[in-house]
Amino acid sequence: MAIILNGNELSARKREQIAQETRVFAAQHGRAPGLAVILVGDDPASSIYVRTKKNDCTQVGIRSFDHHLPEHTEAEEVLSLIKTLNADGEVDGILVQLPLPAHIDTQEVLLTIDPAKDVDGFHPYNMGRLLVGEPTILPCTPSGVMYMLREHSVEIKGKDAVIVGRSNIVGKPMALLLMMEHATVTICHSRTRNLDQKIAAADIVVAAIGKAEMIKGEWIKEGAVVIDVGMNRTEAGLKGDVSFEAAREHASYITPVPGGVGPMTRAMLLENTLVAARGHQKNRAAKT
Ligand code: GUN
Repeated sequence: MAIILNGNELSARKREQIAQETRVFAAQHGRAPGLAVILVGDDPASSIYVRTKKNDCTQVGIRSFDHHLPEHTEAEEVLSLIKTLNADGEVDGILVQLPLPAHIDTQEVLLTIDPAKDVDGFHPYNMGRLLVGEPTILPCTPSGVMYMLREHSVEIKGKDAVIVGRSNIVGKPMALLLMMEHATVTICHSRTRNLDQKIAAADIVVAAIGKAEMIKGEWIKEGAVVIDVGMNRTEAGLKGDVSFEAAREHASYITPVPGGVGPMTRAMLLENTLVAARGHQKNRAAKT
């Protein structure tokens, strides 16, 4: 029976550490770190995520600045807001909640964010730095997964890792981070053939495909580590991408949904904001 990687516990410890470091930052610089959160439209899931992120900020002493724009907002207006926030000395991090409405070009929006304030790590500059093995700000979910693995001393070097999902937010950066720790990485996706066989050969499985319980417990190799990034709303409640009850019979470690990767992702956003704030202060000091 697998050991549960408890994201609520691990993230509570992380948030406590961030709260303490935030107090030190505020005492040194006479201001708290600041995170601007932009939400365009009223997607119910996005609205919940944004509210949760703002509450997390308050809990650790980070100021959050709320920018809720109507669904039909012109792209130009969103870009103009980002430029204003880029120049705002109180704002250390800028988060644009995705997905954006279809009439707005997501890549153009992400490109407009100052890479130093890109606390999601989605700007092509930050993604590129990760690609060449010189990471700056890391995307929150993959970074949270690595934190969980480290905290449980999960061996990565030389292991076969299979990632299911090729998104810019999770799959691709996850592959790069595991590769940096010397795993042999396979990225699978919706068109992959014989997914069950690929998963059966994996020492580490990261599921980020967005389909409830698509990965069957019987596919999991004995002793494999299973990380479930899925958050699928079903009639039976929130479900991961992995069939949890069956998978835990085979895995050595497994993350539950909810209470696994989700809270860890949120904690890493706070850490990224604090790191961005420190960088911001350093830049300011260098200019004066
Ligand atoms: N939408 C789903 N996940 C994320 C995330 O990590 N960051 C942002 N900005 N939007 C998201």
